[in-house]
Amino acid sequence: MKHILVIGASGQIGSELTMKLRGCYGNENVVAGYIPTAELKGELKESGPSAVVDVTDVAGIAAAVKEHRVDTIYNLAALLSVVAESKPKLAWKIGIDGLWNVLEVARQEGCAVFTPSSIGSFGPTTPHVKTPQDTIQRPCSMYGVTKVTTELLSDYYYNKYGVDTRAVRFPGIISNVTPPGGGTTDYAVDIYYSAVRGEKFVCPIAQGTYMDMMYMPDALNASIQLMEADPAKLVHRNAFNIASMSFEPDMIYQAIKRHLPSFEMSYDVDHLKQAIADSWPDSLDDTRAREEWGWKPEYDLESMTTDMLEKLSVKLK
Ligand code: SER
Repeated sequence: MKHILVIGASGQIGSELTMKLRGCYGNENVVAGYIPTAELKGELKESGPSAVVDVTDVAGIAAAVKEHRVDTIYNLAALLSVVAESKPKLAWKIGIDGLWNVLEVARQEGCAVFTPSSIGSFGPTTPHVKTPQDTIQRPCSMYGVTKVTTELLSDYYYNKYGVDTRAVRFPGIISNVTPPGGGTTDYAVDIYYSAVRGEKFVCPIAQGTYMDMMYMPDALNASIQLMEADPAKLVHRNAFNIASMSFEPDMIYQAIKRHLPSFEMSYDVDHLKQAIADSWPDSLDDTRAREEWGWKPEYDLESMTTDMLEKLSVKLK
């Protein structure tokens, strides 16, 4: 039986991944690691063990790993792309100094480590359509710089020390539980909240800007499936392209309008977000993930939209 520590358990992905892992491996075997400023609430706090774990504090990570006999760490601590541009040094401290701490504890205690990369690890010189698994990665955002470094450092610890590091490159993740904070792809979450609240949505990303996106249930399945994959079949490790849908703002608007015909959207482009979005791929080629560990998404734009509108209608009632 696995003993798991989720670092960043109160965040957008961490909050749902912790609950999903508890469902798979037993509540008592999944520790929700959180920083003191991000309080744990509700079932996340009550359904299983938790520990204050700051990724920048190596002693704290080691103590939690030893106390809970952890063998697998899901390290989700990071600043998203727009915030990272305003706090580049902090983005590096959390993303890379923090990762180094996690990998060192993993090396000493024999843990496997999952630290996600992102579509942000690509840049303007990357082929933008059906971006290959192995290609140019010269990002121009600090978020991207930390994500490429994450991939390299994770591979280094695998090759040099045999630490079982694995990762995916997440697209924009769309969810209805914990909102994202400060990402370029956040508009694709915010638009659903506006639609359900009956408000007009002002889109910060220009019409025609394609980005890869994914519904949270697929993102959670990908993370767990990769960590469960047969290592003998993995040619790649850090990090796999995964994809399920690619759209531009008008496509998600039209998908929502088919359910809510009076919904309205206009554009007011945010130049920082747009510059980041323009530097990222339009769509990823995820053939290697499909071949090496059987990745297969369940949701497309239509089925995600139906589910998001249903869940948010209940949540925002
Ligand atoms: N959702 C992230 C962001 O927009 C990309 O992986 O920063």
